[in-house]
Amino acid sequence: MNARQLVIDDPEAGVFRVHRSSMLSDDILQAERERVFDKCWIYIGHESELAGPGAYRRRVLSGRPLIFIRSNDGDYRAFYNTCSHRGALICRADEGVAKVFQCFYHAWTFDNKGSLIGVPDEEGYGEAFDKAALGLQPVERLANYRGFYFVAFDPNIEDLATYLGKATDYLDLIVDQSDEGMRVVPGTNKYSMRANWKLLVENSIDGYHGLPTHETYWQYIADQGVDMSGSMMGGEALSLGNGHAVIESPAPYGRPIAVWHPLFGDEMKPEIEGVRARLVERYGEERTKRMADHIRNLFIFPNLIINDIMAVTVRQFWPTAPDYMEVNAWELAPRDEAARLLATRLDSFLTFLGPGGFATPDDVEALESCQTGFTADSVEWSDISRGMKRTPTVTDEVQMRAFWRRWNSLMQGTPYHDPEATPRRTEKRPLAV
Ligand code: FES
Ligand SMILES: [Fe+2]
Repeated sequence: MNARQLVIDDPEAGVFRVHRSSMLSDDILQAERERVFDKCWIYIGHESELAGPGAYRRRVLSGRPLIFIRSNDGDYRAFYNTCSHRGALICRADEGVAKVFQCFYHAWTFDNKGSLIGVPDEEGYGEAFDKAALGLQPVERLANYRGFYFVAFDPNIEDLATYLGKATDYLDLIVDQSDEGMRVVPGTNKYSMRANWKLLVENSIDGYHGLPTHETYWQYIADQGVDMSGSMMGGEALSLGNGHAVIESPAPYGRPIAVWHPLFGDEMKPEIEGVRARLVERYGEERTKRMADHIRNLFIFPNLIINDIMAVTVRQFWPTAPDYMEVNAWELAPRDEAARLLATRLDSFLTFLGPGGFATPDDVEALESCQTGFTADSVEWSDISRGMKRTPTVTDEVQMRAFWRRWNSLMQGTPYHDPEATPRRTEKRPLAV
C-alpha cells in the first residue's frame, strides 16, 4: 500500500481530495489498526461508569477485548480481557460489580486488581510457576482528563493532556456544566452501519449536511414553533491541531444547560433559569454564554465524538471491516440534574440522536449510500475542499481536513502539519457568528 497517494492537499490552490480506496481496502484497515489506533489515546469510558469498588465495564477497543475496572483500592485500571492460563475471556458480562473474576475454563481466579489469587490443584505446577507474574495484563497506558478515561497501546505515547491539546478547552466547557461533575446515564445505544468508520468521523462534525439530510426533523421542530433559519449557517469550524476539531454555533433551540425555550413549557422555566444563575455565579456571564448559548460537536482523534447540542452524547465507533462499523453512544448529564431536565435531555438523546431517532437513521442512510457509491471505483476521489479559501464556518470542511491530515501523517509516517490549525482560543476572542 502506498498511503502517499491517498490524500491530495494543496492549500495554495484550495484543493483537498481523498482517494476513495482509503475506505474500501482491507490493507488500509489493517494499517489503520497499527498506525492510527495503536499510536493514539483511545477513549475507554467515563469515571462515572465505575461508581464504586469492583464496578467494571467490558469494552472492545481496536479489536482487543478489555476490562475497565475500579479496584477495591478505588483505583481505575484497564486490563486485557484474557486469562493468563490459556486465553479464555475472564470477564463475560458487559458490566457489573465483582470482587473476583473466575475463569470459567479451568477456574483460575483473579482479584479486581488483576492479581492471580487462585489456581486449582496448584501442586501440579513446578518451581518455575510464578503466580505473581501471572496476573491479568494491564493495558500499556491508562490516563484520564477530568473524568474521561483513555488507554493507549503504545507505552511511549505522549501524555494525554499534550495529546488532547486544545481539545481540552472544549472538554472543559462540557465538564464545567455541573458543580457535581458529569455522569454517563446508564445504558448504551448500540448500532452499526455498512460504511467505513471515517465517514462517521466526517458526518459527526459536518454542518453542511444538516439542513438537507435532516429535513424531516427541521419540519417537526418548525411545526412546534422553532425557527431554524440561520442556525445552520455561520458559527465556526476549527481544526484544533493533532487531528482534533470542533464546530460551534449559537443554539437554535432550548438546552437543559441552560437555555429555556417555549417548547420546554412554562413550568420548566424557573428550573432552567436556576441552572443558568448558578453557572453565572460560578463562571461569570461571558463563560456562561459560551457554555449555554452555543452548541458544539467536538471530535477527538481518532474516533471519539462529543456532541454538546440539545443533549450531550458521547459516541465512539469501530471498524470491523472496511465497509462496516459498530457504534456505541452514551448520554452525559450533570450528576445533580433535576428529574424533569434529565427527562428532556434523554428525550432529545433518543428523539434526535438515537438509533431510531430523527437524525441517526438519516445519517446511516447517507453514509451507506456513500459507501455504495465508492464501489463505482472509476470515480476515484472525494472533494473535501469547502471553506479552504475563507474563514471556515460550520458548513465548511476544515474540521474534516483536520482529521485527514493527521490520519495521513500517521499512515505515511511523515511529520504532522495542519496549515489550517487554529491557535488556542482565549475567552477574550468572541465567537464569530
Ligand atoms: S484458560 Fe482460564 S483457567 Fe484455563
Ligand atoms: Fe446528521
